[in-house]
Amino acid sequence: TGAIRLAVIPGDGIGQEVTAEALKVLEVASPAGVKFEQTRYDLGAERYLATGEVLPDSVLGEIREHDAILLGAVGGKPGDPNLPPGILERGLLLRLRFELDHYVNLRPSRIFPGVPGPLADPGEVDFVVVREGTEGPYTGNGGALRVGTPHEIATEVSVNTAFGVERVVRDAFARAQRRPRKKLTLVHKTNVLVNAGAVWWRLFNEVAGEYPEVTTDYMHIDAATIFMTTDPARFDVIVTDNLFGDIITDLAAAITGGIGLAASGNVNPDRTTPSMFEPVHGSAPDIAGQQKADPTAAILSASLLLDHLGYADAAAVIEAAAVEDIAARSGEARRTSEIGDAIAARVSS
Ligand code: NAD
Ligand code: IPM
Ligand code: MN
Repeated sequence: TGAIRLAVIPGDGIGQEVTAEALKVLEVASPAGVKFEQTRYDLGAERYLATGEVLPDSVLGEIREHDAILLGAVGGKPGDPNLPPGILERGLLLRLRFELDHYVNLRPSRIFPGVPGPLADPGEVDFVVVREGTEGPYTGNGGALRVGTPHEIATEVSVNTAFGVERVVRDAFARAQRRPRKKLTLVHKTNVLVNAGAVWWRLFNEVAGEYPEVTTDYMHIDAATIFMTTDPARFDVIVTDNLFGDIITDLAAAITGGIGLAASGNVNPDRTTPSMFEPVHGSAPDIAGQQKADPTAAILSASLLLDHLGYADAAAVIEAAAVEDIAARSGEARRTSEIGDAIAARVSS
């Protein structure tokens, strides 16, 4: 009992629409005696275009004082001359992940009953990608020389520290140990990225020694895209770096019913900072403002948020309501708010 201090960052495009539905569902699912104290932060394209601010230090400081963060999506229309790519993605989203040390980017994938998908006979699909969240090619370790000339050189150097790799690998082993199949697959590209690959390979095998019950497996990232398409049921827990994890989780969403269902958590397992929950998808400028977005991913992300805060029962109620709604879908288009209303009604009933 008590209060959950929730920082809400709806962000851009469909982020606004899907976050409204996630809040609607959270409100009715709130555990007995627990109140949500919401603080809304209007960060994103609109604020940047009006003021030049992306994430002021003072706002980051306030966000730190919350128990968790619910985020919609950030990012403008590709090609908008006023909004160069990366300003919001790096300055807001990645800055939050880095400053709050969200080193586990948790992205579960399941084929829910009744979901139409692109695979004819996928089998029982239920896996989770543990994507490293603070390193890899995302850190900004690079630069550009001779820009605009035919001799331009651009680099984004992937950062892989023993500290960063070991902690995410440990988290993945602990998760695999708690799951019935107890299987962990390392996905990398050790045949080409030999330096980073060696760190991942060594630490993965070292930590494996502490988890004799966990079956381990290795796949190169390119081969992993084959197996994820031809035999996704083989996966249980996957651990991988920041960029491979980004790519493979969009694929995972596509094979399990679409990006509109894919939830995620940016987690600090040490709980020294608020963790952040958001759909895997982006701001979808192509459908923004039309009530066409599926809010299920945002709603399932709210369920992950409650679970992270220790409210497993309330989290399970939201998940069950979403799963029931998904199973009852007929394929006809519904408005964003209709889906939110329907899931909220199932939570309340
Ligand atoms: P996107 O995920 O926004 O959209 C990809 C496709 O999926 C689009 O056709 C879109 O309409 C569809 N889609 C996405 N979410 C949907 C939903 N809930 N329901 C139905 N359809 C949905 O990816 P993008 O087009 O590559 O990126 C658009 C912007 O979003 C860019 O600025 C990008 O940087 C940003 N982005 C942000 C995040 C984030 O905030 N976590 C994630 C990905 C992309
Ligand atoms: C995601 C997004 C982000 C990422 C971008 C917008 C920085 O694609 O959350 O999957 O690459 O992590
Ligand atoms: Mn992505």
